[in-house]
Amino acid sequence: MLSKKASCDSHGQDSSYFLGWQEYEKNPYDQVQNPNGIIQMGLAENQLSFDLIESWLASNPDALELKRNGESVFKELALFQDYNGFPAFKNEMVDFMASMRGNKVKFDPNKLVLTAGSTSANETLMFCLADRGDAFLLPIPYYPGFDRDLKWRTEAEIVPIKCTSANGYKITETALEEAYQQAQKFNLKVKGVLVTNPSNPLGTTMTRLELNHLIDFAIEKEIHIISDEIYSGTVFNSPSFVSIAEALTERNLEDAEVWNRCHIVYSLSKDLGLPGFRVGMIYSNNQAVVSAATKMSSFGLVSAQTQYTLSQMLKDKKFTANYMEENQKRLERRKEMLVCGLKGAGIRCLESNAGLFCWVDMRHLLQSNTFEAEKKLWKKVVCEFGLNISPGSSCHCSEPGWFRMCFANMSEETLMVAMQRIKALVESTIVPQQTGLSKSRWLKNKWVFQLASYEQEPDR
Ligand SMILES: Cc1ncc(COP(=O)(O)O)c(C=O)c1O
Repeated sequence: MLSKKASCDSHGQDSSYFLGWQEYEKNPYDQVQNPNGIIQMGLAENQLSFDLIESWLASNPDALELKRNGESVFKELALFQDYNGFPAFKNEMVDFMASMRGNKVKFDPNKLVLTAGSTSANETLMFCLADRGDAFLLPIPYYPGFDRDLKWRTEAEIVPIKCTSANGYKITETALEEAYQQAQKFNLKVKGVLVTNPSNPLGTTMTRLELNHLIDFAIEKEIHIISDEIYSGTVFNSPSFVSIAEALTERNLEDAEVWNRCHIVYSLSKDLGLPGFRVGMIYSNNQAVVSAATKMSSFGLVSAQTQYTLSQMLKDKKFTANYMEENQKRLERRKEMLVCGLKGAGIRCLESNAGLFCWVDMRHLLQSNTFEAEKKLWKKVVCEFGLNISPGSSCHCSEPGWFRMCFANMSEETLMVAMQRIKALVESTIVPQQTGLSKSRWLKNKWVFQLASYEQEPDR
């Protein structure tokens, strides 16, 4: 009944990333109503600074009530349908993007295309740049949604750039070249490299060296660079964030061809914690890409009232500066809580300075160094210990035993409960002799949760 495209499994919905969400939906944790439920640690949502946004909205009622100086603009907004977006909103967006990059780079609103979130921005870029069977190279591990966003409807391919824990998952010249050769072996035409900076799932920013490797590579192979900078405002610690725009500008490449092959993706889903508003964008130096993407944007516009409300908010520069500073402080504190809790359980993380998650090393808890063992551990964590975390395999990591844990979508109290569960997991996984606990204490410490449907279902 369905088209081949609609039924094609490149959507990736069978990935444990999405399956974990389904498990959570069946039995969501609530401190009072459902204290044995599953805690959602697989969702990169930023809920730490809503109070700031809500208090701004309370003091600026016109923004939500769709008024200008107390007069209704409802009709004006209801009739608005220009797919170029409101100039006022685009002006505020470029200012906001520049301020997050320390105003070291300038953005031109005419090079900005509004989209319904970064999801739509990434797909649109892929549609504009790649034909069926063309490939983009992506460093692994990568955001699990990319399989859906980049491949599913466009029929483009992803070829992994193999990054490993041995060097903190840094992108090297060798890894870039190997991925390129790999694509050629499969007769795939490489159209570009897509990076996420700061990285999801690593929570790290790209170094200048990595950015320079990337730029040199794109120049040499005459290919595109897409830099998904959706987490650029979450950088809470040094080294500071360097946008691809800044890296190119520093090398005076504004007049080089590579400048026209560089495209930035951004959205307000993470930095402002507004994924429900669906505000994303493509910023491209290439006029042909801007006009093709603008034509396509009618499939995923940002609603007029959303643009109106947010342009009022972003216009308030004092508010946005204060919000960003406070939000970053809160993110850092949360990340420290997670890192400390994990450390107490004998688990370490990749050192990170950004994002809404940590990349957690649980290799020592695997029964063997395989992805089967990782899946087994993951099921145990979800079903027996009530924590939905994302296994590295769902991010296409090449080494079993790494997991992504989100920390900004829950209260501090819930995070503390999650840490107790992690401790109990470790105690139940490592044999009693290793923990130094007596067998009876060790058994007592084991958490027993209602097993979810997994145990009855065939292995997925
Ligand atoms: C790297 C990356 N790109 C894109 C997205 C999609 O974001 P949006 O809600 O703006 O569509 C996400 C969401 O998690 C992400 O992590």
